[in-house]
Amino acid sequence: MSKKLYISTYGCQMNVYDSARMADLMAPLGYTLTDKPASADMAILNTCHIREKASEKTFSELGRLRKTREGRQSRNEGDMIIAVAGCVAQAEGAEIMKRAPFVDMVFGPQSYHNLPQMVAEANRGVGHILDTDFPVEPKFDHLPKEAIDTNLSAFLTVQEGCDKFCAFCVVPYTRGAEFSRPVASIVTEAKRMIAGGTREITLLGQNVNAYHGEGADGKPVTLAGLIYQLAEIEGLERLRYTTSHPLEMTEELCKAHRDVDSLMPYLHLPVQAGSDRILAAMNRRHTADEYRRIIDKLRHYQPDLALSGDFIVGFPGETDQDFEDTLQLVRDVKYAQAYSFKYSPRPGTPAAGLESEMIDEAVKSERLARLQALLNEQQLAYNQSFVGREIDVLLEREGKREGQIVGRSPYMQSVFVPSPAHRIGRIATVIVQEGNANSLRGELKPGSVADAA
Ligand code: 5AD
Ligand code: SF4
Repeated sequence: MSKKLYISTYGCQMNVYDSARMADLMAPLGYTLTDKPASADMAILNTCHIREKASEKTFSELGRLRKTREGRQSRNEGDMIIAVAGCVAQAEGAEIMKRAPFVDMVFGPQSYHNLPQMVAEANRGVGHILDTDFPVEPKFDHLPKEAIDTNLSAFLTVQEGCDKFCAFCVVPYTRGAEFSRPVASIVTEAKRMIAGGTREITLLGQNVNAYHGEGADGKPVTLAGLIYQLAEIEGLERLRYTTSHPLEMTEELCKAHRDVDSLMPYLHLPVQAGSDRILAAMNRRHTADEYRRIIDKLRHYQPDLALSGDFIVGFPGETDQDFEDTLQLVRDVKYAQAYSFKYSPRPGTPAAGLESEMIDEAVKSERLARLQALLNEQQLAYNQSFVGREIDVLLEREGKREGQIVGRSPYMQSVFVPSPAHRIGRIATVIVQEGNANSLRGELKPGSVADAA
């Protein structure tokens, strides 16, 4: 009999990828996905530890799941296995077991390939299972080759972990040391995705441009090298990669933005701050001007590039002038979109120890509001600059309104067009009519996409 699996995913795209692989692992055990926790025989929370707020959600959702499970038991609908995965599991495994003893299993991002075995043990009533080891053999060797689901636009993890140790960040502790998958296994996975209908692949890595996986001749291949190889695969229309660190934005990779047609003109390149003093305190290992020069180099090869970034305001010791430097950097670079956060001290990271330099919450909030106002202004101006332009849009899914499809532009914008649903999956030319804060609206160019036979 089919069992139901509920997966709740928080945080970054790597967690989205991991959740999809967990579903693949559970399929042979008879589990199919549900989006209703009340009907689930097993629930997995795939958690995020990056900021305090994200982390706290774990415990509130666990509280809700506990009630859901009790509801199932009282209605005689069966039990529910409750599992916590992801980075909170990795960082606070023992704490979770203590604070939420009803949780059956806790496992980290590097050990979820043991899931079938852990489920078997849970069903045998072995008791609580905690697996937060960093195994010697990478989990990728143990993941199923077949996916239960493919998307038009899919994530593919090529690199994991981080050796950069930015002073604010938990990733090097939760995801572990840098690791790159061999080229051959990535190519195989990409081909499988494309055979299943995927047209756009986003290569994922915490430090994706530090990729140095083994090539056919046993020698390391760069991210640019990997991109050139993947671009050869027939049927792969669009390639993206995220997230990059400025230090590894090599000439070769910048050039690929000019030379590889399927590499989309969009780059997420976090800078975090615009003050050299703060960048040094953050251990980012580059200056604001070095970042500006990288942007110049990228735009030299690909003038049409849409830029995205991450920013942290209120890092310990940040003065008004430091913050002004961040605003100036934003004005100089001109972002198409960006993410910005208030600094959140994370246990175990070096910056969390700078207690005497912590910035007031109110100051952080005020700075964040000013930064976001500037970024929003830039994003709106960027989107409005598209009015009248013709752009290629991958038509991805039905919109909320009847007769509307949402697609993705090469520059990562969501694009709304009136169109019958049968065109989903195609890349069409759209004439942009409106540029809004978070999306574009337009019309399909007549004749640019054939109607399905
Ligand atoms: N506080 C606030 N923001 C953080 N980020 C990472 N760690 C922290 C933290 N402790 C942000 C960075 C990073 C993004 C994924 O999250 O901007 O690039
Ligand atoms: Fe965290 Fe810095 Fe590594 Fe990015 S580069 S994952 S911010 S430590």
